[in-house]
Order: sequence, then structure tokens, then C-alpha cells
Amino acid sequence: MSSRTPDVLVIGGGIIGLVTAWRAAQRGLATAIVDPEPGGGAAQVAAGMLAAVTELHYGEQTLLGLNLASARRYPDFAAELTEATGQELGYRRCGTLAVALDADDRAHLRELHALQRRSGLESEWLSGRECRRLEPMLAPGVRGGLRVDGDHQIDPRRLAGALVTACERADVVFHRTWAERLRVEGGRAVGAVTTDGTELSAGQVVLAAGSLSGRLAGVPDDVLPPVRPVKGQVLRLTVPKRYAPFLSRTVRAVVRGSQVYLVPRESGELVVGATSEELGWDTTVTAGGVYELLRDAHELVPGITELPLTETRAGLRPGSPDNAPLIGPTGLDGLLLATGHYRNGVLLTPVTGDAMAHVLTTGELPDEARPFTPRRFAAALTEQSA
Ligand code: GLY
Repeated sequence: MSSRTPDVLVIGGGIIGLVTAWRAAQRGLATAIVDPEPGGGAAQVAAGMLAAVTELHYGEQTLLGLNLASARRYPDFAAELTEATGQELGYRRCGTLAVALDADDRAHLRELHALQRRSGLESEWLSGRECRRLEPMLAPGVRGGLRVDGDHQIDPRRLAGALVTACERADVVFHRTWAERLRVEGGRAVGAVTTDGTELSAGQVVLAAGSLSGRLAGVPDDVLPPVRPVKGQVLRLTVPKRYAPFLSRTVRAVVRGSQVYLVPRESGELVVGATSEELGWDTTVTAGGVYELLRDAHELVPGITELPLTETRAGLRPGSPDNAPLIGPTGLDGLLLATGHYRNGVLLTPVTGDAMAHVLTTGELPDEARPFTPRRFAAALTEQSA
């Protein structure tokens, strides 16, 4: 990129900021990112499930449309990113098995199955015996399950690393520092001031700072994204070669009301997640969090206690009031958002990159992203105050 003012400044170099910058640069926009550690953020903790079908929730059918659109793009997206960087992403089309351990879990899963069918999604009900035939390490008490062959996984750390490389190769400029304040002049966002006082300028500014997006100084209150941190504790274990294949697909369950999932990578890593805690900015790994995850995972797959525990970590999901992302222009000229992806940041990476590149070049959101305009919250605020 030349030394001219960039067309786009992306605040935040997590996977959403990176994909936005990469796609914008591919469309010929001179693009810069400001982030002290590009490729960091929630992707360093996330398990990387691409679970549009198994993570379907009541009231989230609109989000389902975006999730499915992104899931459909994943094969081409992953192939293109690998081609651009030479880096493997751990994209594994392994499917998912959601199982029930008792009568309550079974009833819950039956409801989910009915909702999936009403939504036209593919999932198959299996008996406990059929589940164990697919995954012999499952506990003998498994009462039944849902086989979802379309829900896959990717390694988010590899994804983040590849996106950094792709951006570098596309001449995206990296400012490795924090953005402290949005610059607004004449009623328009024109850049950011970094912690060392440097003034960065750009034609358009994208705020993509994950759970930190609501904290940037200088953003007028009426366009500040209503994003909050939702803590997730996640464990990483290793499957020694003598136990492989320990699991051949993602296995998940709701145990006593808490989600637990086990995501087996081809590398032998087994990711176990995740707590969901509304504790503000706290990222402490707690004995209670680790205990609950291991206890629930052990009920599902008793052999897990034999595996080396290699990492415990907590991250912050960027939660939004309706659990859906905020994508596109705000009420402040020149300021766009790509944030609030909550549980689906990894899944929504391809579609977010495409939507942001589209809106940055044309000024319009593509049809599939329109329901996710940040302006939906501004409208709600106006109605409340009327
Ligand atoms: N999507 C998985 C999680 O947020 O824990």
C-alpha cells in the first residue's frame, strides 16, 4: 500500500477484523488494521465448531439464515485461504453428534430435533446404541442423539494465523498498537488515535474489536455497539497416538443445563468447552470452571480422564442483545461495525468478510446481511425514548 490515506482502517485484528481487511484489500481498497496483536482475541480460545444446525436456538431463525450462508461458503473460503497462504486450517468435515444422557436431556434434544426439522435442516435421530456404534468411547448410559453430518470444525488459531498472512500478502498495513479513540470531524468518522498519540486517518473506519467494541472512546453514545463480554472457559487435551481415534466427530451434550462439547482435531488435540459466564472482563480460569467441564465431559466420554490436560484458558465472546452480529454502517458517517458475533464468530467469518467488502465498496449491505444492520438497536433505543 502507498503512503496515501487508506480507504479503510479496521480497528481490531481478530478473525472478523482480519477477514474484513483481507476481503477489502482484494477489492482494491487500501486497507490498514490497528491491533497490538493481530490474530489474537477470542479465536485463540474458541473451539472452532461450525455448528449452524446443532447450535440452533428458538427465536434465532434469522441468524440461522446467516449461519447457513456462511457454512455453505466454508469449503471455498478455506480452500482460497490455504491457496493464498500455503497454510492448512484444520478444516475438518467431520460432522457432529449431539447426545442425551438422561430423560431431561433426551426431551431437550427431541425439541431441538423438531425445531431443526421445521427449519428444513438435516439431522437424524439415533438410539443410544447407534450413537455408541458411531463413537465407541461414549458412555454406556447415552440415551439417544442427533447426528448432524453438516456441522464441521476448523482450528481457529490456524484460521487467525492464515488470515494475518493473507492480509500481509494483500498489502494490508498493520499498526501494532491499541486504538484509544475514534477520530470524528465534521460529523464523520475519519480515523483513530492510538495509545502513543499517533493520528491514523482513513476514508472509512470499521470497528471490529470483539468484546471491546463498546469501549472505544470518542464513539457517540447513539452508535456505540451494545456488545458485552461473555466469558468462556475452554480446555485442551491431547489424544496420545495409542488411543486414536478417540472421537471421530464433534460430540456435544447439555448436561444439567450446561453445554459441553468435545472437538477432536486431526492433530490429536481435543478441545473441551465451554462455560458461559456473565462476569464482565474477568478471564480467570477457575477450579470450578475446569471441574464442571471435566465432570460433564467425563459423563459423556469416561475415557477422557486418561488424557493429558495441556491447556486451560478463558476468552470473551462478544455478546449482543439478540445474540446476532452487528454488520454494516452506523448512524455516524464513515463508521461501520463488524462485531457482536457472540457464539458464532468462527462460523460467520466468511460471510462477514464478504458482506463487509460489499458494503465498503458499494455503500450497501448484501441482502443476507441486511437484518444484521447495527441500526436495528438505534431504532429500538428511539422507540424506548419516544
Ligand atoms: N459456539 C460455542 C461457544 O460459544 O461456546
